[in-house]
Amino acid sequence: MVANAEKVTQKKAEQKQHPSGDKRFKALDITMKRNQYRQDALIEILHKAQEAFGYLEEDVLLYIARGLKLPLSRVYGVATFYHLFSLKPSGAHSCVVCLGTACYVKGSGEVLAALEKKACIHQGETTEDGQMSLMTARCIGACGIAPAVVFDGEVAGKVTAEQALERIEKWGIGNG
Ligand code: FES
Repeated sequence: MVANAEKVTQKKAEQKQHPSGDKRFKALDITMKRNQYRQDALIEILHKAQEAFGYLEEDVLLYIARGLKLPLSRVYGVATFYHLFSLKPSGAHSCVVCLGTACYVKGSGEVLAALEKKACIHQGETTEDGQMSLMTARCIGACGIAPAVVFDGEVAGKVTAEQALERIEKWGIGNG
C-alpha cells in the first residue's frame, strides 16, 4: 500500500513537471517550494536557476515569474540589473557544460577545456562569428549520465571530449 501511495505521489509530481520534461525545472520547483514561493526570495531563486541552466532564458524567467506570482518585467529587471546573472547567450548555438561534482569527477573539466581550445573562447563567451556560446552550469539534474553537456537545449550524457568536439564541428566551429 505504502509503495502504491508513493507511486501516486510520484506520478502527481511528474505531471506537475514543466511540459518540456526538462528535469532542471524540477530543481527550480524544489527551490521555489523551499522558499515558500516568497517573492523576496527572487534573487536566490534566480541564482539557483542560473546554476541549473547555465544562463537565464526567457522561458526560465517566465517560469519563475509564474511560480512567485510576479510580473515578468520585475523578474527580468532583477535578472538584468545584477551582473552575476547572465541572460541567454547571443550565439546561434549554445553549449552548456555541467561542472557539478558528479560531472566534474567524470571529466567534464576536460570536456570544457577541449571545447574552449577548439572554439578559441572561454566559458561565458561567444565565438567572434556569433556561431556558438559556451557556458557552464552546476548540476543540471542528470548526474546519472555524467558528464553531461547541453547542446542547443538538448541534454547529452557520458560525453567525451572527442564527442563534444565532433558535435561543435557540425556547427562549423573550429573548422577553418
Ligand atoms: S553534476 Fe552534472 S548533472 Fe549533476
